Amino acid sequence: MRAVQVTEHGGPEVLHTVDVADPEPGPEELLVGIAASGVNFIDTYQRGGIYQVSLPFTPGSEGAGTVLSVGSGVHGFEIGDRVAWAMVPGSYAERAVVPASKAVALPTTLGERTAAAAMLQGLTAHYLTASTHAVKPGTVALVHAAAGGMGLLLTQLITLRGGHVIATVSTPEKERLAREAGAEDVIRYTEQDVTSRVRELTGGVGVHVAYDGVGRDTFDASLASLRPRGTLALFGAASGPVPPVDPQRLNSAGSVFLTRPTLAHHMLDRAELDWRVGELFDLITRNELRIRIGGSYPLADAADAHEALEGRRTTGKVLLEP
Ligand SMILES: NC(=O)c1ccc[n+]([C@@H]2O[C@H](COP(=O)([O-])OP(=O)(O)OC[C@H]3O[C@@H](n4cnc5c(N)ncnc54)[C@H](OP(=O)(O)O)[C@@H]3O)[C@@H](O)[C@H]2O)c1
Repeated sequence: MRAVQVTEHGGPEVLHTVDVADPEPGPEELLVGIAASGVNFIDTYQRGGIYQVSLPFTPGSEGAGTVLSVGSGVHGFEIGDRVAWAMVPGSYAERAVVPASKAVALPTTLGERTAAAAMLQGLTAHYLTASTHAVKPGTVALVHAAAGGMGLLLTQLITLRGGHVIATVSTPEKERLAREAGAEDVIRYTEQDVTSRVRELTGGVGVHVAYDGVGRDTFDASLASLRPRGTLALFGAASGPVPPVDPQRLNSAGSVFLTRPTLAHHMLDRAELDWRVGELFDLITRNELRIRIGGSYPLADAADAHEALEGRRTTGKVLLEP
């Protein structure tokens, strides 16, 4: 089969498409023919070596497709089933082995492209708004990079839960998308000062929660935008990692809470995965949550997909379609 391989850490140019042997499913695993793989920022951190992965490796940790064969001891899945997954390595390929424990069956009305686009970022937006900080009617939230893959999902979920979104974006087109997703206030953070604008918009009080996947460039503004006892959910580093933080800053900012959560700790068992996926797929199939696929590339153009994502040129989800 064809698969993308990284043999040395570096920029997008280290992503090469090569021929490799078809993987074999072991016990309690499925072999899946991949229809679409999601591209995520974590793939760029792994490619660049910010996150350690031993070389060589095939990037990609989510996708959707059709079961081609099943290993011993698999219950609940058979050949021909359509499935999706997140947090399984090796999805930039024509085929992947997926543990049955991480596979979810697709409802008949949900296409593979949409499912691949929804899994990792959708489950993340779910845990951030349901578990990290339970958004309820009246919650005021700051969402950075609101037209991105995570941003559009967070903005919609917060709005669906009755919250008020103050979004940040870099361009007029991204502002339009953030507003369409439900953001009531939008700050062009490349031109406006986020902290003072948030204070103005909230009558000087600040937000209950700041969702920050941008990291280094936005961290200080996120912290300074919280109301007393607010929460800063730092869930990524699109602009680079945040330098070490003195805990005393959390006191000065208003006895606030800082967390650096990750999806792996929010799908700890099958029941938790099924709960989050069930709510996510329900919202999508009822058309209440829209999945925007902003870009799609063949496997061989994975480098272009990474360049676009890191170059701030994408909106919504980026897919590879083998
Ligand atoms: N912790 C978790 O469980 C988890 C799971 C999924 C994703 N994430 C994180 O969520 C964040 C967003 O991921 P995504 O895949 O949805 O990406 P994305 O938001 O679609 O793309 C990143 C966006 O960040 C903004 N940005 C600001 N400064 C940037 C810079 N210097 N370089 C690149 N982008 C910059 C850009 O939007 P503007 O042009 O509007 O500024 C850009 O479009 C990432 O940090 C990722 O690691 C975390």
